[in-house]
Amino acid sequence: DWNMPDYVAEAIEKVRAQVGDEEVILGLSGGVDSSVVAALLHRAIGDQLTCVFVDNGLLRLNEAEQVMETFSRNLGVKVIHVDATEQFMGHLKGVSDPEAKRKIIGREFVEVFQAEAQKLPNAKWLAQGTIYPDVIESAGSKTGKAHTIKSHHNVGGLPETLNLKLLEPLRELFKDEVRELGIALGLPHDMVYRHPFPGPGLGVRILGEVKKEFADLLRRADAIFIDELRAADWYEKTSQAFAVFLPVKSVGVMGDGRTYEYVVALRAVQTQDFMTAHWAELPHSLLGKVSNRIINEVRGINRVVYDISGKPPATIEWE
Ligand code: XMP
Repeated sequence: DWNMPDYVAEAIEKVRAQVGDEEVILGLSGGVDSSVVAALLHRAIGDQLTCVFVDNGLLRLNEAEQVMETFSRNLGVKVIHVDATEQFMGHLKGVSDPEAKRKIIGREFVEVFQAEAQKLPNAKWLAQGTIYPDVIESAGSKTGKAHTIKSHHNVGGLPETLNLKLLEPLRELFKDEVRELGIALGLPHDMVYRHPFPGPGLGVRILGEVKKEFADLLRRADAIFIDELRAADWYEKTSQAFAVFLPVKSVGVMGDGRTYEYVVALRAVQTQDFMTAHWAELPHSLLGKVSNRIINEVRGINRVVYDISGKPPATIEWE
């Protein structure tokens, strides 16, 4: 029987018994799982927890500010905010292959995280937001992309090189239980029910070579799409929704002039397991509003298209 208050108390006791008076490091991404781990550990061991939040320059609009606001200012969690935008952008320069980009982003993350961890020589534990479906998936013989997802997500190799013990307090929980736990721990509803966001972030939503200028345009277009989905009560009816930056220019008109600017594609899907997905049949009026706002507000984008491809054969992401 699932009783949340008892579960919270038990989970806290379990962490305290395991960790004692030792220090713990956590890579906080702002995603549901690491956020719930942060909230739980903070409740259990307070300042023995240090979170490292790495801004790779490929996050959504205001994401770093929101994470710092929720955890550092509101909850009083110790969070080290590392802005590594320049480092990530530098290594991504000239790289357009999707898997090569994923590898670079994963590798740089490990490097930045490791450098921060070394500044905390007293840490004995590395906490991770591994949940039960991750445990099952790793036990199976998954290859290809699923493996790539795991290896980036769970920061493979870090415990070995840093000589840290693994702390995985969500290991027995399904996603909906993790969300309930997050709510019980006082995390904001919007954070706990946020759509999943891939580890490589906008790095796989900017097709081809990643540039800061493209990321800045995409962030603003994406934020408009998500705002309007929420306003129209469509956000929670979709499983994942986002904008994709297409580095091709097309002709448009504005006033008396001709424009020649980039294209943004909107993607919204409904799915149970993310293995298959249906494109969301968003109202045309909503799509029209999003398109108008993006084109009017984001100078540099003059065309918006909607992706009506199912998975399979298309994937949810464009890379
Ligand atoms: P696809 O595009 O394969 O996506 O249909 C299925 C789900 O996986 C997410 N995804 C990733 N997550 N690292 C991640 O952490 C990745 O490299 C990655 N690639 C895809 C995607 O957002 C969707 O939820």
